[in-house]
Amino acid sequence: MIVAIDGPAGAGKSTVARAVADALGVGYLDTGAMYRALTLVALRDGVPIDDGAALAELARAHPVSLENGPGGVRVMMRGDDVTMAIREADVTGAVSEVAAHPEVRHEMVARQRQIMGHGDWVCDGRDIGSVVFPEAEVKVFLTASVDERARRRHAELTGRGERVDLRAIRDDVARRDHADSSRAASPLVVADGAVVVDTTGIGIDEVVGKIASMAREVAA
Ligand code: DC
Repeated sequence: MIVAIDGPAGAGKSTVARAVADALGVGYLDTGAMYRALTLVALRDGVPIDDGAALAELARAHPVSLENGPGGVRVMMRGDDVTMAIREADVTGAVSEVAAHPEVRHEMVARQRQIMGHGDWVCDGRDIGSVVFPEAEVKVFLTASVDERARRRHAELTGRGERVDLRAIRDDVARRDHADSSRAASPLVVADGAVVVDTTGIGIDEVVGKIASMAREVAA
């Protein structure tokens, strides 16, 4: 069974998806981490982020691997643990442009289908229910207001000791929404058959419980 969770930045997808995967006892695939890891190598290797063909080549040469462990998912690239590095501001600032290239998406989607070809998975991203796995048994479009998503991201970053401005974060969330929704290749859309879940003002546990019961009903 595949549970596809799509939605805009900051809707809580990765927290919810990981918790749903734990509740169901299945694997979790964070596709955003795959685009982020590619962006990180491109920045480190000086590959121009406006060159889709070169980025796709880089993705083929350096496939990212995601290891599910007790402490969460570890993101490995070329033998390095890049779990933290892929969350830094330079990567966050460049990843939308990297993810907009059709050649890059083609590579990533093939890899995602390969990884989830066997077994049961909870997967989060932007195009899982619409492009990667339109046949997913459970499809959720997780969203929340721009203000709420900016507040959550601000709390997450300040919790990590970073000094950040809420307004700048709000602008960044709005900019990424626009970039992800308006790109030509696989824009962020509510997939056919997806249930829209708005998490504004709702606790994570309630959202996780709701999605896990949807999945259990399908599996029953
Ligand atoms: O969910 P995130 O913030 O880690 O995603 C990082 C970027 O990757 C974001 O700009 C959207 C893009 N992305 C995508 O285009 N398709 C996916 N399946 C997952 C993420």
